Amino acid sequence: MAASNRSCLQYLFHLAHDNLEFRLPEIKALLALRSKPFHPCVNFKEQSPFWCLEGLSVEDVCSVMDRSVCAKSAFELWGHGQSHSELRTSLLSYPQEKMSPYMQKGSSYKINVYTFNKTLLFEERIKKIDAMDYLPFQGTVNLKNPQFTFCLLEDYGTDPNNIPELPNYVYFGRLIADGQRELIRSYSVKNRHFIGNTSMDAGLSFIMANHAMVKENDLVFDPFVGTGSLLVSCSHFGAYVCGTDIDYNTIHGKGRSSRKNQKWRGPDENIRANLRQYGTESMYVDVMVSDASKPVWRNAALFDAIITDPPYGIRESTRRTGSHKDTIKSPDGSYPESHVPVSQAYHLSDIFTDLLNFSAHHLVLGGRLVYWLPVYRPEYCEEMVPLHPCLRLISNCEQMLSSHTSRRLITMEKIKEPEELDSLAHLSDPHFSGYQKHNAFREKYFSGLNKRSGKDDTKADVSGK
Ligand SMILES: C[S@@+](CC[C@H](N)C(=O)[O-])C[C@H]1O[C@@H](n2cnc3c(N)ncnc32)[C@H](O)[C@@H]1O
Repeated sequence: MAASNRSCLQYLFHLAHDNLEFRLPEIKALLALRSKPFHPCVNFKEQSPFWCLEGLSVEDVCSVMDRSVCAKSAFELWGHGQSHSELRTSLLSYPQEKMSPYMQKGSSYKINVYTFNKTLLFEERIKKIDAMDYLPFQGTVNLKNPQFTFCLLEDYGTDPNNIPELPNYVYFGRLIADGQRELIRSYSVKNRHFIGNTSMDAGLSFIMANHAMVKENDLVFDPFVGTGSLLVSCSHFGAYVCGTDIDYNTIHGKGRSSRKNQKWRGPDENIRANLRQYGTESMYVDVMVSDASKPVWRNAALFDAIITDPPYGIRESTRRTGSHKDTIKSPDGSYPESHVPVSQAYHLSDIFTDLLNFSAHHLVLGGRLVYWLPVYRPEYCEEMVPLHPCLRLISNCEQMLSSHTSRRLITMEKIKEPEELDSLAHLSDPHFSGYQKHNAFREKYFSGLNKRSGKDDTKADVSGK
């Protein structure tokens, strides 16, 4: 990375090293919320824990960090280099007028040392801080409550079996803000009032809300709402939320509990109570029992975002209402009063066709659809991702579930209003056949291949499937 262009500020983002695939779309989406492009400095490496970005204001950086669960901290970058001597040269060429407001007499500060892929002893850290005495700090050190926090960050590569003696790269900067990693713990499903077998992990729920660019006062819909984990994260960001599920017990918080030591769900175990737990009940619109294959909404662009985790038949069934016999509808489209819907298989291909068509009709222009697509890895190719003429593919990130299965987090943006033939576009799409056979994914998931790698399958449990 060249220490060039010192006139414009550069910001260093320190990213968490989990959820690698989701980081770039998250930061891009959060910048897009500020109408800012993602502008990396030279030598940008997506897999690195450190990203240097330019073309941003402090306010932009703060607003990204106010939402990000992928970024740990962000710094105003003062210097960097491949060695400490390069860092020194770089720091000494950083404009005085940009440094001095934070180094005044009477101010207080502290310097942290962060090392990636290496643990340093306390004495080694102190030595590194002492070695930076060439910086003209005039304030006093205050470790507990400093006015300004600085950080020396050292990158020792990503291979834990081959940790170099000296860092590959070093950075120094002023802390601007920390990210929202804390949300992963404070919203953990372990401590949530109402949960189910397929409740979505808190970190991923926030990532989905970020990919969807959910913002204050948006209206967000989850057509396969389950226990409402995605509504929880969206309401945290100030959106009004609603959802549907085919399962009466889930919507009404009745039936068997998913908790270990509890047989039946207790009173008030429902989605509204979850939002109440996190102080966002006022954002709860409602949830209702409804079959996503038979949308009940009036024909209008109602939602700012649609965020969902459709069923794919591993722990929950992929069902829809209807029987194999033709049901007789009255001419106005309603069913006779005596009609009791029974369920039939809901093929994966239909789930995604319906979801994309529904989104094309019911998202506002520029609104985003974010959903999980199950994938049988040996057969996956990019062309298998369902497309729609009204929806532009924004990102497609893999999360491995086992050696041969994964799910991909798909983000799409509505770019035009649907025309008559748009909803049939998928029929001419040969790639869609991957999901065509009834429960093909389910069969493959439980195939012999899977049995052989039994260990892998427990991984899927962790991620809520
Ligand atoms: C993977 S779970 C969603 C989990 C949810 N994200 C949560 O955090 O609890 C899929 C949900 O889709 C529901 N479902 C299955 N078929 C449906 C259909 N045809 N219409 C609406 N919901 C359906 C299931 O009852 C299940 O609750």
